Parts: sequence; structure tokens; C-alpha cells
Amino acid sequence: MSLYPTILAVESSCDETAVAVVQDGRTILSNIVASQVDLHRQYGGVFPEMASRQHVLAITPVLEEALTAAQVGWDKIDAVAATYGPGLAGSLVVGLNFAKGLALAQGLPFIGVNHLEGHIYSNWLGDKGREIPQPSFPALILIVSGGHTELFLMHDHGDYELLGHTLDDAAGEAFDKVARLLELPYPGGPPIQKIAATGDPNAFDFPRSLPNDYDFSFSGLKTAVLREVEQFKGEGRERSQLDDRFGPAVVRPLPVADLAASFQQAVVEVLVDRVLQAALEFEVTQVLVAGGVAANGPLRQTLEATLIPRAIPLHVPPLALCTDNAAAIAAAAYWRLQHDGPSPWSLEIAPNLKLAPSPT
Ligand code: KG4
Ligand code: ZN
Repeated sequence: MSLYPTILAVESSCDETAVAVVQDGRTILSNIVASQVDLHRQYGGVFPEMASRQHVLAITPVLEEALTAAQVGWDKIDAVAATYGPGLAGSLVVGLNFAKGLALAQGLPFIGVNHLEGHIYSNWLGDKGREIPQPSFPALILIVSGGHTELFLMHDHGDYELLGHTLDDAAGEAFDKVARLLELPYPGGPPIQKIAATGDPNAFDFPRSLPNDYDFSFSGLKTAVLREVEQFKGEGRERSQLDDRFGPAVVRPLPVADLAASFQQAVVEVLVDRVLQAALEFEVTQVLVAGGVAANGPLRQTLEATLIPRAIPLHVPPLALCTDNAAAIAAAAYWRLQHDGPSPWSLEIAPNLKLAPSPT
């Protein structure tokens, strides 16, 4: 019998205001997400000041919706959780203090959750009646989001060993930056995936950077895309200068689909290569993928095609649980509460919070 079966969680670390109610760390009773993405699109990225203001506006209606959808009253909630890091300081403050206030008002225990741990636990969540994998260890965890690209060995609940991380851009950040180069909207992952489906992944031979050990690096790849884009644009300019003397210029349009497909292929290959290498070396019982980039179709398909024939169990959350949500936070809170108990009321935001120390 668990100590805190039903948990209400709040997530506000970036540009999603989310509240969820989860039972036994596994069954989602409600999971409401108010995304601010339309608001930030005009800036080509998250505008921190605007994000925190929007969280203030959205958080109470999102809470009410989550309680209504879960069909539970406060008398059925056993604890309140919130993300306390990593993330944007102004955004984290809103959710953390809101959740603390709720817990105090309702006389409930409170726990702060690491956002990355939430992403991991989204793998062991499901709706009522749906088959979901049981946690088993050692598990290999690939976190690929807008702010993180990290590979962990998870020895047990709460016990993480960092195998490698990105030395520069995160995978999602690379998608977002390349989308901007290709004049596609923010966030870049979904439009790149969409247009890449009509392009040739072998059209451009972009670099696959595999630095030491299990680390990643995506800035060279982004620069390679930038060079191609500049070359196409520069060629257009040169031709139009010739224009006056030699007649109308033939400006080649940017091959957006081929560039997107070749870029995506390079990212997928690097991620899958690292995952396979680590899964074999550490003889893991399962591979779990989490974070926004885990929504990427070709990444999911390539992981499956690589791991399943080698009898390495793979789990990638359903699309809605890949991106930021509060059900994931509630799931991580459940396991943390069993092991560590509630957080002190003095818990503060930790914008640079880590899941495990870097290997020395
Ligand atoms: O985990 P997440 O929702 O937020 C962070 O914690 O960062 O991840 C957002 C990132 C963005 O960079 C977005 O471009 C990327 O996930 N993303 C994708 C896809 N959907 C979202 N990247 C590639 N393919 C997708 N389908
Ligand atoms: Zn996230």
C-alpha cells in the first residue's frame, strides 16, 4: 500500500502551463496542458517574461479543468507536486509557489520534482485499461528535449548515472535553429519532420559528430546547414548581379525538403548510434526515450528498427506525453515520495538543476 496514491502535479518550467492528477504513479486521471506556443511563435522562441505572465493567467483555470476532468475533489488528493527545476526562473516560480500554496491551504504534503525525472517517468504512465511497461533496471534513458540531450543509466528509482550529454546545442534546439534557417515556424521539430517526409535524406552529406564517450554535439551540423543555405542565397545574389549584363538570373529555390530530411537523418543517426552502443555495453533491461524530440517519427522508427531485432525492449511515450506535461511530474513525484518523503517548505526554484553529476 503506497503512502500517497493520488497526486496532483503542476508543471510550468517553460511555455506549457500544466496540471494533472495521477494515481499510483501510473494511471492518468486527468492531464491538462495549456500551451503558449502560439504566443511565442512570433519571437521565434520562448520569451521568458511573457511566459511567466502567461503562467499566472492560465494556472488557475488549468487547475480547475484538471480537477473536473479527474472527477476527484480535494479530499481524494494525497499530495501536491511541482517542477522546481531545471527551467526558466520566472516560469518555475509561478508553478512552484502556486503548488506550495495549494498544499498549505489543503493541509497536504508537498514535493518538488526535477523536470527531467518527470520526462523519464512519462514512460511508465498510461490511461485506465492500457498496458504500460513496468519499471525495470538497469534502464538506458535518452532525454532529447529543447534544452537537454542526455544519456543516463538508471540503476534504480532515483539512481541515475550520466553517461553523456551535449557539448553545445540540445537536439531540440538544433531542430529549432535549423527550422529558423529554413524559414519554418517555431518550434522547429514538427515542421521539419513534416517537410522532410517529402525530401531526400541523402541529398546533403551533413556531418555526424560523435565526440568522446557518450557525448553529443549538434552545432557543427547546424553550421553545415547554415553554409548550404548561405550558398544557395549567395548564388542567387551573384546571379542577380550578373543579371544586368547577361539577362535574367535563374535563382535556385532553397531545397527546404532535402535540407530538412538530410538534417533530420543526421540527428537521428547520431542519437540511435549512441543508444545502441550504450544499450549493448551496459546490457540494459529496457531503453526509454523522453522529451519533445522523442515525438519525432523517424527517430522512433529507427530506434525500433535497431533495438527490437536485437531483443532490446524499447519504450517511447505516446506523443502527448513526450512534450511537457504535469502527469509526468506526478509520476516522478509518486516514486520520490515513497523513497524520500515530502520536500521542505523552504524548497526554492533551481533553474540549473541536474539529475546526476557529470562524470569526472
Ligand atoms: O520536452 P519539450 O516539450 O520541452 C523542453 O523541455 O524543452 O521539447 C521541446 C522540443 C522543441 O525543441 C521542439 O522542436 C522539439 O522538442 N520537438 C520535436 C518534435 N516535436 C517537438 N523535434 C523533432 N521532431 C518532432 N516531431
Ligand atoms: Zn521538457
